[in-house]
Amino acid sequence: MTLLLTTAGESHGPALVAIVTGLPAGLVLDRDAIDADLARRQEGYGRSPRQKLERDQVEVLAGLRHGRTLGTPLALVVRNRDHANWEWGMSPWPREGEASGKGSKPVTLPRPGHADLAGALKFDLADARDALERASARQTAVAVAAGAVAKALLGEIGISVEGRVVSEDLEQRIDEARAERDTVGGVVEVVGRGVPPGLGSYATKDERLDARLAAGLMGVEIGAGFELAERRGSAAHDEILADEQGALYRETNFAGGIEGGVSNGEDVVVRAAMKPLPTLMRPLRSVDLETGEAGEALVERSDVAAVEALAVVAEAAVAFELARAAREKFGGDSLADFVGAWRAYVERIPWRTR
Ligand SMILES: Cc1cc2nc3c(=O)[nH]c(=O)nc-3n(C[C@H](O)[C@H](O)[C@H](O)COP(=O)(O)O)c2cc1C
Repeated sequence: MTLLLTTAGESHGPALVAIVTGLPAGLVLDRDAIDADLARRQEGYGRSPRQKLERDQVEVLAGLRHGRTLGTPLALVVRNRDHANWEWGMSPWPREGEASGKGSKPVTLPRPGHADLAGALKFDLADARDALERASARQTAVAVAAGAVAKALLGEIGISVEGRVVSEDLEQRIDEARAERDTVGGVVEVVGRGVPPGLGSYATKDERLDARLAAGLMGVEIGAGFELAERRGSAAHDEILADEQGALYRETNFAGGIEGGVSNGEDVVVRAAMKPLPTLMRPLRSVDLETGEAGEALVERSDVAAVEALAVVAEAAVAFELARAAREKFGGDSLADFVGAWRAYVERIPWRTR
């Protein structure tokens, strides 16, 4: 038993789609809670005017009846309101008549830092839009919806997941970058609380919880991260203590809640770095793929920064991976079976949170 997420959808196409399989039957979903996460993803200092245009709301097409999961594939949809301006440019089917509206001219000047060039070469594209529409972070909207579902499941076994920005002076850096028509990145941190020991496994990248979290995020540190490489072992590992009842706990959490690829019962703490956004209003040098001539990269409506949004996206990614690992450990076709297996396990082990 595992939890899987498949997504489809282009940035300015009709809609974004997610299919989540492996949920137990009987999980209550709250539409407002999912929409609240979608709204959080759209907020934050430095976002583009597109976020005012889109008012993301989830639609459910399958897998849910009267607010309860059926244990069948859950199909989620988030529509792109902006598609109205791209009806010709992003039409799934050939359109009659003259090209009009946004997306009607081919993109031939790839942006450094984005997937424009690598995607155009890989898929043999004359119009880099065919690459950048899918590579756009717009698809994170539906991943956030899936993350909200994962958080609902985790809530049933006492796990909460919370993302936040850790970069300091972010607003000032954004103001300065905006004035110079530049962009910025930053660092976010996600903490999973109440994670029981035993999620994930030891050896391969498909088993290890740390590897799976890293794959969901990229540019990642877990716990004290890179800093640990500079420390001695005596100052880098979290000593194991027992309280009067014999329950095990730690006073420190340098490991970020994961040892040997397995959650150890402490908070799971993951940091992710985001590079500056690739679309600059003062574009970088590029080469026209059609003519081979030097030029300037594509400029299109874009955020100056999306670090606060990344905190929400990263929270969803961590929630999904924790929920997946929990499904693998506790299984069950119904929510009662899943929660029952978790309860029997945590009652058996001597575990205490700090
Ligand atoms: C929530 C969010 C919003 C983003 N908005 C933009 C944007 O407006 N303009 C842009 O150029 N990149 C934006 N990005 C970053 C690009 O999606 C990303 O850099 C690009 O897809 C290349 O992928 P890479 O970062 O994995 O190399 C955003 C990323 C996130 C997570």
